[in-house]
Amino acid sequence: MALPIIVGAAAGTAAGTAAIAAYLNAKFHILHDLRNPRAGLAPSKEIVDYLTGRVMAKRVLLFHVLEDHALHHRPDHPFLIFEGQTWTYRQFYDCIIQVANWLMKDMGVDSGEMVAIDGGNSPEYYMLWFALDAIGAKISFLNWNLTGAGLVHCVKLCESRFVIADTDVRNNLEPCREELEGLSIQIQYYSPSFFASLTDTTPIPPARYEDITIDSVRSLLYTSGTTGLPKGVIFTTGRELVTGYSSAKYLQLTPNDRMYTCMPLYHGAAHGLCTSPCIHAGATIVLGRRFSHKTFWPEVARSRATIIQYVGELCRYLLNGPANEHERSHCVQMAWGNGMRPDVWEPFRERFRIPVINELYAATDGLGATFNKNYGPFTANCIGLRGLIWHWRYGNEEVRVKMDVDTEDIVRDGDGFAIRCGVDEPGQVLHRLDPKLLDSVPGYYKNEKATLDRRIADVFEKGDLWFKSGDMHRVDADGRVFFADRLGDTFRWKSENVSTNEVADALGRFPQIAEPNVYGVLVPGYDGRAGAASIVLADGVTLETFDTKALARYVRDVLPGYAVPLFLRVTPALEYTGTLKMQKGRLKREGVDLEKVGNGDVFFWLPPGSDRYVPYERKDWEALKNRSVRLT
Ligand SMILES: *[C@@H]1O[C@H](CO)[C@@H](O)[C@H](O)[C@H]1NC(C)=O
Ligand SMILES: *[C@@H]1O[C@H](CO)[C@@H](O)[C@H](O)[C@H]1NC(C)=O
Ligand SMILES: *[C@@H]1O[C@H](CO)[C@@H](O)[C@H](O)[C@H]1NC(C)=O
Repeated sequence: MALPIIVGAAAGTAAGTAAIAAYLNAKFHILHDLRNPRAGLAPSKEIVDYLTGRVMAKRVLLFHVLEDHALHHRPDHPFLIFEGQTWTYRQFYDCIIQVANWLMKDMGVDSGEMVAIDGGNSPEYYMLWFALDAIGAKISFLNWNLTGAGLVHCVKLCESRFVIADTDVRNNLEPCREELEGLSIQIQYYSPSFFASLTDTTPIPPARYEDITIDSVRSLLYTSGTTGLPKGVIFTTGRELVTGYSSAKYLQLTPNDRMYTCMPLYHGAAHGLCTSPCIHAGATIVLGRRFSHKTFWPEVARSRATIIQYVGELCRYLLNGPANEHERSHCVQMAWGNGMRPDVWEPFRERFRIPVINELYAATDGLGATFNKNYGPFTANCIGLRGLIWHWRYGNEEVRVKMDVDTEDIVRDGDGFAIRCGVDEPGQVLHRLDPKLLDSVPGYYKNEKATLDRRIADVFEKGDLWFKSGDMHRVDADGRVFFADRLGDTFRWKSENVSTNEVADALGRFPQIAEPNVYGVLVPGYDGRAGAASIVLADGVTLETFDTKALARYVRDVLPGYAVPLFLRVTPALEYTGTLKMQKGRLKREGVDLEKVGNGDVFFWLPPGSDRYVPYERKDWEALKNRSVRLT
């Protein structure tokens, strides 16, 4: 379907509106339906009508949604709270316009031009983001944690003439200055005092954004690059609006809501699941500079936040953290996010007195989403619920298929087709694609190979096309959907499949373990991988008081024999990404060959017949290699 339908439609006429609505309906059918929390019950018509209205009014930017509040609906309502300071919608809007004028007049940023921005969470970061949006520029959200080759790669990829960066990331940027300047890329720093000194409040000329369509690339967010260099994930204007609008609807956000996030703003979660829905609802964003035990509860309590956003292991961190005087006296009604593990779920709810845990599963570079607004035990620990209506409506659109754990390929039957998983069988989640509507499927910027790698054809019949999620889910007899593992994390041992998440959940419940990270290691002479866990001991537990006998008894009790970790690697701290996701790559590579292990981690193992984990040394590796000891 071609873009000109929108551009060419006679604005304001009924025929024009109908044409646009029809176009958008086709276009966002996939995105919306698969993201629809109450799939089959809520009409996607609401979303199509909303988009149509914005297209007709030529106000398709997130900035425009913000502007509506600032100039019309609620100018004096708080928009942002940061470190004790509050900006109303109108006040913040004025700051945005001043930055926008600087970008247009002093920096010479063109409409339609991509601009890379880099910086930690701050009001100024938001000002820069929305100012670029306002003047019709595209935004490339660099991960502020990057430096060196990764950083240069991202800037080159988006072909920005500038990196506009917070002075607080100077140390990451300066080492790349020479290389960037060699590519004619200019570094421009900003700071609170600099933005405060700007005064030009000339309104933005509509010509800056009038040509932007619902299909235009609006921004790039990057994958974490834990395997290889980061990839740019394209957010179109339409996707930006749909994500914010539908998340606000799903959460039933009102202007009285205040959502706290300390997750990095360059990442899809803080961007699409906090910032954008809050703006759609006219709600208040409470921004934390970064995650810290010290500031988390005081900031949440003092700002009277009603919702907190979590990602990855944030909740585990809080649960392992020291008691804070504010941790139970706050206004939080809901924790909203992705990655709450079962061993953390109920203890988190109880300790911090948060009635609703609203866990979702989605990815910036993914298609489907699942939601679980959870109040109590029945749906605790899962990421969604698939009822009869869902199956009737979507059972052939989203499926789980059996995977070959070793090759990470889809298992094919005698006819060459994939095999659907039954009840409780983990499998990779696939979403059906309509070959005619491929441009609404998330893709990677200037990386067609990676975009195409996410697709797979001839799954259940010749000519069908599906999108690979890269994640393994499991659905039980009650329709509860569980996140099993990342594809590639599950490993095989003794011809059985071991889900690293399931083992980690068990280890996480052992009181002496604060943080577990489970992976499989190669051992000479064995098929598959032996289970290993890198662990951080709980506060106050030392290597001397670590009860390795109790742990061995416990894991043998709660896990099937093949899933019992045979190796333990006690470490002072696990490695996380900038969004608090655990890294397994280095651990898997180093394995249990102590020659390859650099730092001071302490290893234990569970030798055959032993009733406890015992220290693991080089001679044990030798004995495994010369097969005088066999693992069981
Ligand atoms: C990135 O973040 C990690 C963990 O938060 C930190 O240890 C590391 O120093 C950071 N790297 C850079 C380049 O900022
Ligand atoms: C393990 O996964 C393979 C696919 O890789 C599957 O064929 C097999 O049935 C699974 N084994 C068990 C015990 O679940
Ligand atoms: C295997 O290695 C262990 C540990 O180095 C050693 O004690 C043992 O004698 C070796 N056995 C054989 C058969 O080489």
